[in-house]
Amino acid sequence: MLSCLVLALECGGKSVLTVEGLGVDGKLHPLQDAFADLGAAQCGYCTPAILVTAKALLDQNPPPNREQIREALSGTLCRCTGYLQIFEAVEAAMVKISEQANAGT
Ligand code: FES
Repeated sequence: MLSCLVLALECGGKSVLTVEGLGVDGKLHPLQDAFADLGAAQCGYCTPAILVTAKALLDQNPPPNREQIREALSGTLCRCTGYLQIFEAVEAAMVKISEQANAGT
């Protein structure tokens, strides 16, 4: 959801996840780690929307291919980084999440 198009009143009784809520127990989410490690964010203006959108994608459709990642993130424009790093960071996070799931963590 685009938060600028949703009234707070419409969120009553619903779960709302923002980028601040991605991490757990003081640890960054694998997407946040991958974006930092791979230089997928610079000014950070676009990053919260991309991170939350990517999390929704990975939650709903694991594992997406590059075209599905591109399509899912197409609604958020980044003027700084370049999309290659962003796509690679999502893919790296996908691997990390899969490893964590297999390890039972
Ligand atoms: S990092 Fe600056 S707009 Fe994306």
